[in-house]
Amino acid sequence: MGPRRPRRGEVKHAIHITSPVRAPGLQKMAMTFHPGIDIKPTTNPLGFEYGPDCFGPEVELRALDSIRKSLRNPECDGPDPVYAIAMDVGREKDRETFTDRNLLIGVVTYAAGRLGDEPVRSQGHVHAPSPRNGWSTPEVYEIWSGRAVILMQEFDRDDPGRCYAVEAGPGEIVIVPPNWAHATISADPEQPLTFGALCDRDYGFLYDGVRAHGGLAWFPLLDQRGELDWRPNPAYKERSLDIKAPGDYSALSIRPGIPLYRQFTDNPDAYRYVAEPAQAVEAWEDFTP
Ligand SMILES: [Fe+2]
Repeated sequence: MGPRRPRRGEVKHAIHITSPVRAPGLQKMAMTFHPGIDIKPTTNPLGFEYGPDCFGPEVELRALDSIRKSLRNPECDGPDPVYAIAMDVGREKDRETFTDRNLLIGVVTYAAGRLGDEPVRSQGHVHAPSPRNGWSTPEVYEIWSGRAVILMQEFDRDDPGRCYAVEAGPGEIVIVPPNWAHATISADPEQPLTFGALCDRDYGFLYDGVRAHGGLAWFPLLDQRGELDWRPNPAYKERSLDIKAPGDYSALSIRPGIPLYRQFTDNPDAYRYVAEPAQAVEAWEDFTP
C-alpha cells in the first residue's frame, strides 16, 4: 500500500503516509528509482559513492549540534549527522555541459529519524539574486529515494501569498520558481530521503525574511504515527495550505517519468532558464508548483 496521495488541486490539511518496507543495516540505500547517473547514496556512513565515470566533491556532513538553533526543541535527540550534501556532481563527459551554462546538480541525503516533534528538513530560504542577471534563480528538484514535501510560498513577507506543500516520491520532479521561499522536508521518518537539484552555479541563500517570521507560513510537525501534521505560523497573515502532487512543468521542458539527468543531457539548452530565469518569464507568472 502506498501513501495516500491527495488528488491534484485538492486542498487538505493533513497528509497520511504509510511506513514503507525498511532495509536495516544496508550500507547502500536500495533505490527504486535510477537517476541516470552512477551516484549512490549511502547511509552508514551517510554520504555518496561516485561511479568511475562521475565527478563530485568530498561530501559535507551537517552535525545535529550545528542546526539546533533552528529547531523548535533545540535539546531534542535526532540523527547525527542530520544530512549529507554534495554540490556539483555529474558524469565527467558532461562537465562542460554544466559549466558552460552556469548550472550544477547538487545531491542531498537526509538521515532517517525525527528531530523531536519535527521532521528532518532544511531551513526556509529564498534564492539570492544572481550576480549575472539580478534574478532570484529557480531550482529543479528530483526525488531519488524516500518521500519529500517541498513546502513553498510566494513571498517571505507578512502576507506569504499562495502556500503549497508538494508531495513527491522517487522519480518525481518539483520546481521552485524564482523568489519563492521554500524548504525541503522528509515526509517519512522511517527512511532517509535523497534528492537531486539542478540549480545555478552561483547559488546563494537569503534567510532573513523567513527567520524574521520564525519559519515559513506553515510548520510541519510529525505525529506519533510518523505522519505530517501542518500548523499555521501565526507570524504571517493566514493563508491556506494546498497539499498537492507535482504540477505540469511541460512549459519548463520537464517530461514526467524520465530521469532529470537524462532530460538535461539530452537537451541542455532547454534548462538554461535555471541560470537565466528571464528566458521563462511567462512560466513564472501565476506559477503553480
Ligand atoms: Fe533552495
